[in-house]
Amino acid sequence: IHALVHRFEVRRSSHTRLCTKKSMLTVNGQFPGPTIYARRGDLVTVDIINLSDQNITIHWHGVKMPRYPWSDGTNLVTMCPITPGNRFRQRMILSDEEGTVFWHAHSDWSRATVYGAIVVLPPATESYPFPKPHAHIPILLGEWWNADIQEVYRNFIAEGRDPAICDAFLMNGQPGDLYLCSTQDTFRLKVEPGKTYLFRLVSATMNYIMFFKIAGHNVTVVGTDGSYTKPLNTHYIAIAPGQTIDFLLETNQPPSHYYMAATVYASGADYVPTTGILEYVGNYTPPPSPLLPSFPEIEGYVTSIYFSNKLRSLASDKHPIDVPINITENLFFVLSINLWPCNTNSCLESDRLQASINNVSMIMPQTSILEAYYKGIRGVFTPDFPDHLKRVFNYTQVSLERNESHPHYATAVYMLDYNATVEIVFQGTILGEGIDHPIHLHGYSFYVLGSGLGNFDGARDRPNLNLVDPPFMDTMVVPKNGWTVIRFKASNPGVWYMHCHFERHQTWGMKMVFIVKDGDRPNEKMLPPPPDMPRCDTPPQELLF
Ligand code: C2O
Ligand code: CU
Repeated sequence: IHALVHRFEVRRSSHTRLCTKKSMLTVNGQFPGPTIYARRGDLVTVDIINLSDQNITIHWHGVKMPRYPWSDGTNLVTMCPITPGNRFRQRMILSDEEGTVFWHAHSDWSRATVYGAIVVLPPATESYPFPKPHAHIPILLGEWWNADIQEVYRNFIAEGRDPAICDAFLMNGQPGDLYLCSTQDTFRLKVEPGKTYLFRLVSATMNYIMFFKIAGHNVTVVGTDGSYTKPLNTHYIAIAPGQTIDFLLETNQPPSHYYMAATVYASGADYVPTTGILEYVGNYTPPPSPLLPSFPEIEGYVTSIYFSNKLRSLASDKHPIDVPINITENLFFVLSINLWPCNTNSCLESDRLQASINNVSMIMPQTSILEAYYKGIRGVFTPDFPDHLKRVFNYTQVSLERNESHPHYATAVYMLDYNATVEIVFQGTILGEGIDHPIHLHGYSFYVLGSGLGNFDGARDRPNLNLVDPPFMDTMVVPKNGWTVIRFKASNPGVWYMHCHFERHQTWGMKMVFIVKDGDRPNEKMLPPPPDMPRCDTPPQELLF
């Protein structure tokens, strides 16, 4: 039942939500796109055929792609886009992932409609570290825009400030019946009583961290980002764009209809939750309307960190962890939303924004960084990404709480030796109210050692870092005006993108690239490119500011 070769036709198809019909980019005409089922250790081949009118790349989010960045699918970082009428065969090597990851477009803002789940089961001879679930239920959170997403993207770039909010949030492509004109567009899930279901929750939203809850039920989290966690019993889940959470649901409540709901956590805002309905099968009269769960009330981001700080790696004999202890690369990355360049003191009056890491706002190159690196083409990037804000400009010009300086623009990469042991302290800053940043790294998962509010203070915070069973993730949240510490071992040679998974922050420049050099032995080197790599000789397509 697990096809190892898939055909993804990227084309426009028509879909109607909120009584608005639109033509949008999809894979195989499906929205959300097809779920890929595989097992740990599988080599999955996907043929991407671009039958649309625009350029596209597809990224396997959370798949580490050992030694093979050629199939990572990041526009202008690991490849040039697949142009209309062309195709590209991508190979997805599932090495140690087990659980849920996902795929999405990784060019302009196409991922708004081009995404789907990847469910990675244990190898055929192995079992789950929990009782075998009755069924797997992928749940993808997304956003619906009545407007064409390319138009939203172009307007965003022209205006340079926060985009309008999407018209609805989606659960498996459906807004749910709390939105106007959406009763027929509600995800309904029939469940049998007395069973255990494995939910595979994916956040493919563009710009929002969400709370997810099922009315009347507690759930048990067992995994995140394709890696098992210790069981965590909880009544709500916080999930950022780019994260996945696997949880078990026991259908142990009185047979009825229950809402499953997800809402933006921002306090005080009146976002409408997206809902689905959990329907117990059996003989009973369903209530006129299902019970809506009550969401956490205290300030959203605190509740969100509280949830993620409770995640722990399973760290069992069968699923051991390997947290780097002797660190060779101590990096300190400051994440800022910056003001648009201006030369008066009245910059705050301009609401045009940029974003940066260590005050570098990344400019996308005109061609693939991976290809330039592999072929030794000069002038595409510089290997001088700053590892510490202090080296860029005087700390006294800026306080960590409020970074109003103007970033500089560069395509700078940070070079890592093979097997370097890396620690990154991420420090969020405040412009206006400040905001969280879900940071995602390609080619790796990392251990999340800890996270807190305010400025990171080594003397105070280091003793509390978790070196025993930190969660192993590919996307973690640096809280608003807070910090997060991660570690990983640079054992995967290649060119790997790291960025905020809020689409608007990424577009504003909160992104950078690590190049991990080859090791000495043959099996420590990047594999050669496939023969059908999309050519880089057509002009660039990514819009520039
Ligand atoms: Cu989910 Cu760079 O991507
Ligand atoms: Cu961000």
